Amino acid sequence: MARIFLTGANGQVGKDVELALLRQGHTVIAANHRTLDITEADRVMSAICDSMPDLVINAAAYTNVEKAEDEPSAALNVNALGPRNIAKACAACNIPLIHISTDYVFSDVKRREHRETDPVKPECEYGRSKLEGENCIINSGCRHIIVRTSWLFGAFGRNFVKIMLSMVQERSEIAVVCDQLGNPTPVRPLAEALVIMAQRILEDKDFADYGIYHFCGYEPTTWDNFARTIFARAIPMGLLHHDVNVLSITSEEFRSKAKRPRDSRLNCDRIREVFGIEPPYWEDYLGEVMHAWGRERQGLTPVEDYDHTISIMDRITNPEDLQLLAKSMQESDQQEQQQLQSRQPDQQVQQS
Ligand SMILES: NC(=O)c1ccc[n+]([C@@H]2O[C@H](COP(=O)([O-])OP(=O)(O)OC[C@H]3O[C@@H](n4cnc5c(N)ncnc54)[C@H](OP(=O)(O)O)[C@@H]3O)[C@@H](O)[C@H]2O)c1
Repeated sequence: MARIFLTGANGQVGKDVELALLRQGHTVIAANHRTLDITEADRVMSAICDSMPDLVINAAAYTNVEKAEDEPSAALNVNALGPRNIAKACAACNIPLIHISTDYVFSDVKRREHRETDPVKPECEYGRSKLEGENCIINSGCRHIIVRTSWLFGAFGRNFVKIMLSMVQERSEIAVVCDQLGNPTPVRPLAEALVIMAQRILEDKDFADYGIYHFCGYEPTTWDNFARTIFARAIPMGLLHHDVNVLSITSEEFRSKAKRPRDSRLNCDRIREVFGIEPPYWEDYLGEVMHAWGRERQGLTPVEDYDHTISIMDRITNPEDLQLLAKSMQESDQQEQQQLQSRQPDQQVQQS
């Protein structure tokens, strides 16, 4: 079993990744924004190198696409400087890094699924900051995997599915953009895919297929059709008690500050070929995320086994505690090492 250092552990993806790692029996050093700000280079270096994990997963990011237009330097700080700090630490300590990026690094000129090798041209500040983050990691020299994904919806945090369900509780009509095509991606299979990738890197000593991968849900759709599918499911699930008319509007009519790609579909052939990971059908996971939304409305945890499975480390609230944790892990490593050494003569006796 491996020891994984996870940043952004309190985010939508971070929580599912931590659960997926713990369910596979791995030890997780779960750092959240409060315990480790990834923009602080020295702290990132010591937190990672002192606790000597087998692998790092970065799920921390500045993710407010609209707000990034008003504060591009804040987005750049978290999405580029942060990954650069993490990658530098990973390079210094020879630890592999898995990082999450976005379909918004692409513009919409392709009009077909985007491959990892296609040219990038982000059209909004968020996309530019995420692309800069990718480049910082690539240039750091650390062993890395960058997983680009899109239109995430999971049991934790805020996402399109939960926002739609909340918005229509008191209304019967909603306007949703119809001219952006992309792949809704359920977070749980994404988290499981990251764990499979981590395990493969750690188990296969000759692993050499580092680089960029795409992972998303199938089939692609538009935001207005995504909304219609949610509402159609919500009524039989008892999460909505009236029909909702989805008014299809163009991106211009929506008047958002951030320009999003009209077609950001991702091609997942590479992840399938190298890791044997099949992209999920997003509709298969819609019910569980909607169920999680229903549980949250009742004041429950979104996922039933969350309280039993989540590590105590996620509840650490002081940065100093993360340092202490790293130190205690080092000490327990040393103890384990000493115990192993002292046990070896016994084993030799038993074997002979
Ligand atoms: N959401 C999507 O639809 C989508 C689509 C494609 C790709 N992605 C990518 O997927 C990854 C995970 O996104 P998500 O949906 O899980 O986002 P999220 O729910 O916003 O989680 C991001 C986490 O990062 C933390 N964070 C922000 N600034 C930080 C800092 N300086 N240091 C440490 N932690 C910090 C946030 O903590 P606070 O909340 O306390 O600030 C939050 O817990 C990101 O890389 C994102 O770009 C997301």
